[in-house]
Amino acid sequence: MKIAVIGAGYVGLVSAACFAELGHEVIAVDNDPRKVDLLNQGQIPIHEEMLPELVARHRGGRLQFSSNITQASRHADAIFICVGTPPAVTGEADLSYVEGVARELAVSLEGNKVIVEKSTVPVGTAEAVRRTMLLHGANSEHFSVASNPEFLREGTAVADFLYPDRILLGVPDQRARETLSAIYQPILDGSYYKRPDALPGKASQPAQLIVTSVKSAELIKHASNAFLALKISFINSVANVCELVGADVREVAVGMGTDSRIGPRFLTPGIGYGGSCFPKDVLAFRSVARGVGYDFALLTEVMSVNEDQKLRFVAKVREALWTLRGKKLAVLGLAFKGGTDDVRDSPALDLVERFIAEGAQVCAYDPAAMSRAQALLSSDALTYADDAYDACKGADALLILTEWPEFAAIDLTRVRGLLKLPIVLDGKNLLDPEAVLKAGMHYFGVGCCPIADTLSGAQPQSVQPRSAQKTMWSAVAEDAGALQTSAV
Ligand code: UDX
Ligand code: UDX
Repeated sequence: MKIAVIGAGYVGLVSAACFAELGHEVIAVDNDPRKVDLLNQGQIPIHEEMLPELVARHRGGRLQFSSNITQASRHADAIFICVGTPPAVTGEADLSYVEGVARELAVSLEGNKVIVEKSTVPVGTAEAVRRTMLLHGANSEHFSVASNPEFLREGTAVADFLYPDRILLGVPDQRARETLSAIYQPILDGSYYKRPDALPGKASQPAQLIVTSVKSAELIKHASNAFLALKISFINSVANVCELVGADVREVAVGMGTDSRIGPRFLTPGIGYGGSCFPKDVLAFRSVARGVGYDFALLTEVMSVNEDQKLRFVAKVREALWTLRGKKLAVLGLAFKGGTDDVRDSPALDLVERFIAEGAQVCAYDPAAMSRAQALLSSDALTYADDAYDACKGADALLILTEWPEFAAIDLTRVRGLLKLPIVLDGKNLLDPEAVLKAGMHYFGVGCCPIADTLSGAQPQSVQPRSAQKTMWSAVAEDAGALQTSAV
């Protein structure tokens, strides 16, 4: 098939490269000429596993880059809209980019086309796209508007595209259904996975094809993201209760997740969810509901728990250090999650700003997101380290704010030798508390109650309910005292 992809961002670029991988002729269009130039030179402006290999494999062949929507859409059987749908100030999705693309497609329409929404959009957007195109002169016989939402997680988007749980097609007519089914055929019949050059992934079985009305498909996307955000806010709330009663949320999550109706994934508590999807999609979905007269109050609570989780972590750091003014904090992680360079709505950046506002000095390291963070956050109180250990030098505490695998494998003995105070606050429950204790440091996680320890390296004290627990500060002060005597 011939495909045009409008918008070559995290979603559009991955989709275009994967469509080419499936054997289609693809033109990816972007209105940022710099981005198009970079792509034509083979440079990839985003951090996505396997994307560089995929673009290198097809660039100049089945995958072209352009800034001309008209030329690209004339060439195509299907035109995928992948432009941004950022939140407007009032919370609902800003669809002005989608509308702009619909206008341009209307005036350039030739022959039969399927216009496909891949961006996350409120239910009813396809109707608005259709109306806009008719208003701008498109012939209603020459196009149909379908919904094909993406369920790509940043960092693993290529694998998520080629090895999806399901392919969701919201189609208004048979022609759109046939066109879109043909595009995904190599995944649906599993033939792609039999190719000797297929990219690695885990195909437990070929993807399930789900065909619905256009409106149902649009709603499935918002409801899916909102539910995943709800699941994260739920486990964050459970973690907060665990801390107060002395239970361990990691054990609780295992006990819950082994129920097939709950499932083990998205049960990791932390500093709250971030990224360019959950925050905006929860807000947009609530706006959609309110727009038709339903107050989706549950989503209001999902958002307030998420905001509160960040404040609770700041309070935890403040408690461990007594006051943040003048303290030096080593921060590992700035991206909104591990495996990506994206800092949009990153809880880590939000926390860094809060620490600086309280007078702390922050030395931060992130394997991929530092340049994007530097573009957003500059302060005399913020320095960027060359690596994780460099960030730890002379710090009063080590904070883990993004779940990068390399942080989970950090040499804790080396960290202990670099920190001024032996304090680790793990906002992502990434480290093994026992290993941190064995390296002679205090460990404070999320929902696993702070394990007071004795720096003499004695066995960690048995886990006590918080009420019977020394406060973190007194435990650290006592040990710091012990340190001084032992150092004499
Ligand atoms: C975004 C949302 O984050 C995601 O939830 C939605 O499903 C798809 O749109 P993303 O790829 O992250 O996904 O957006 P972004 O990284 O902002 O990429 C959008 C691209 O479209 C940018 O490269 C931008 O230059 C381009 N664009 C935007 C156009 O080509 N034309 C426009 O009119 C507007
Ligand atoms: C999400 C959806 O997963 C994906 O299906 C949709 O297409 C786009 O939005 P993404 O935002 O890229 O993907 O990342 P995801 O892996 O879902 O993580 C979102 C946020 O939740 C991150 O900040 C992550 O750190 C956090 N998270 C995730 C948790 O705090 N706990 C978890 O158990 C899982």
